[in-house]
Amino acid sequence: MAQPLLASDPDFLVIAHRGASGYRPEHTLEAYTLAVEMGADYIEPDLVSTRDGVLVARHENEIGETTDVATRFPDRKTTKVVDGSNVTGWFTEDLTLAELRTLRARERLAFRDSSYNGQFLVPTFDEVLALADSLGRARGRVVGVYPETKHPTYFRSIGLPLEDKLLASLTRAGWNRADAPVFIQSFEVANLRRLKSQTDVRLIQLIAAGSPPDRGIEADIPTYEDMLTSDGLRDVAAYAYGIGPEKRLVIPMDSGATTLVRDAHSAGLKVHVWTLRKEPVFIGSRFKADFAAEARAFKASGVDGVFTDHTDAVVGAVRP
Ligand code: G3P
Ligand code: CA
Repeated sequence: MAQPLLASDPDFLVIAHRGASGYRPEHTLEAYTLAVEMGADYIEPDLVSTRDGVLVARHENEIGETTDVATRFPDRKTTKVVDGSNVTGWFTEDLTLAELRTLRARERLAFRDSSYNGQFLVPTFDEVLALADSLGRARGRVVGVYPETKHPTYFRSIGLPLEDKLLASLTRAGWNRADAPVFIQSFEVANLRRLKSQTDVRLIQLIAAGSPPDRGIEADIPTYEDMLTSDGLRDVAAYAYGIGPEKRLVIPMDSGATTLVRDAHSAGLKVHVWTLRKEPVFIGSRFKADFAAEARAFKASGVDGVFTDHTDAVVGAVRP
């Protein structure tokens, strides 16, 4: 097997959020490939499990919105409690990989291009890793992979834990190491703390509003607001390489930058914000629908990277 390509990260990472998801159905090999062609440094697969324990790339385990499962397996529709909420639909953990492979991806958002619906498969994590490696070699550069464990406590509770399989896949790819072009991210805390003792791969604590889904289930889980204090950031730095905050925690919708980047850097944490999207509805009002201005403002804020659905637009704005 060829030697793995290792991390050579630029100062400001462009991370293709679910691939080039502004242009192709999210989490497909075609979406990831287009993002790399547009200049992405990393591609981002969100990971869930099939019934037979294979990690596949989907934003959530309910796949009614992003595949044609409703027409192919109408009888699998059901209601479950996931992370404390009732969810009705079709779930990856109720399909084998062979069944999942009969599905085709669909565009999630009504205002995006749906002309690719029905064409692309749901990829496995191993396929995403192989794609990144081959795309990188073909271009003479490193293409990294930035997997997110989705609903890890839920999947553990149904006997399909994600983490060991994630690490096994990275090991097979030669990327279960500190200098791999890989970041593992999670909105939960306990699985990252456990991963800290299981792998040297860099870990990213995602931060949003409210509380991590494992708060109240696992011991000593802070709220996200707790994490943003200096003590909280110091605690995160004990297990994580960086944080992935929702972008408005760095630059609010209609005002200037907060102190979060400075505070996180003081705690020794990198900062990768999500998610930059060029459609006006997602752009901060202070930028008056000028996406390039918003992208440049995030770079000027000192963040170390951005997740984006529109890699081409970010690259065009910050690497002219
Ligand atoms: O992982 C960064 C960002 O993707 C988090 O949000 O919901 O798009 O996975 P989500
Ligand atoms: Ca994600």
